[in-house]
Amino acid sequence: MRVHRLDRITPQVRLVELRDPDGRGLPPAEPGAHIDLHLPDGAVRSYSLCGDPADRQAYRIAVLNVPGGRGSGFVHGELALGADLTISPPRNNFHFDDAARYLFVAGGIGITPLLPMIRRAVNKGADWVLHYCVRSAAAAPFLDDLRALPHGHVDLHAADEGQRLAVDELMASTPVDVPIYCCGPQRLMEAVAAAARPDQDVRFEWFTPRPEPARQDFADNSFDVVCARSGITVTVPAGTSILDALYAAGVEIDSSCEQGVCGTCETTVLEGEPDHRDSVLSDAERAAGKTMMLCVSRARSTRLVLDV
Ligand code: FES
Repeated sequence: MRVHRLDRITPQVRLVELRDPDGRGLPPAEPGAHIDLHLPDGAVRSYSLCGDPADRQAYRIAVLNVPGGRGSGFVHGELALGADLTISPPRNNFHFDDAARYLFVAGGIGITPLLPMIRRAVNKGADWVLHYCVRSAAAAPFLDDLRALPHGHVDLHAADEGQRLAVDELMASTPVDVPIYCCGPQRLMEAVAAAARPDQDVRFEWFTPRPEPARQDFADNSFDVVCARSGITVTVPAGTSILDALYAAGVEIDSSCEQGVCGTCETTVLEGEPDHRDSVLSDAERAAGKTMMLCVSRARSTRLVLDV
């Protein structure tokens, strides 16, 4: 992919537009999707797509300049217009479903996956409210674009003006039929998760592992994994991930973050009860138990049968 556009849209955020160098159409990307950027030093970093999902000619990402960050150091320090980059096809762990009304909660650069969702909501004529938490209005990416969109409004919470979001009040006043999509700093997402009622539909995009409640049961036990396609059975000892145990047995599974946040190693579960420890699946998806992330999740049953 070639860098077709490289703009500074706030003092600390660069917008990168990528296109196929031969002008070929790109794989579709639904709102909430992200791509992995393969950095020249071999590291891989995930970025949410923030462009128009209907645009099959370009992918857009917005990258915050994070001190010491490898991806942001590359994008802000080395990347040039016309450079060629390797990316993975879009992957979506942050699914956007149809509804009549939406609540969006963004913190800073966490607006990126929400922007295509808000555009989709606008196109469908749905009502929406965005609570946008930023350090200052000048540091809020896409603020003018968002304010220009119909059917909804932006409540800006600028820390430099003392406008903090009252998360508890917001969650308490949000009806259960309004899905809530949230992305931003860990502290904001933890506050939203803590204030959510059990009957509310709240979805997050975690780019660092989601904090798990303390576990009293199902510590790192040993269990068997049956690989349905090859028919082999692999014992996963305590302290070893399913991914590593399968790799040692010659079964290679695609992986990227190995922290349970990117979704690359998501695998279909045919039998058995997973012990989910990832930050990708929603509570409903966890309860359904149809897939699991092999890099971090384990088993509650003594045996899992996986579609590998
Ligand atoms: Fe990223 Fe497993 S490798 S979720």
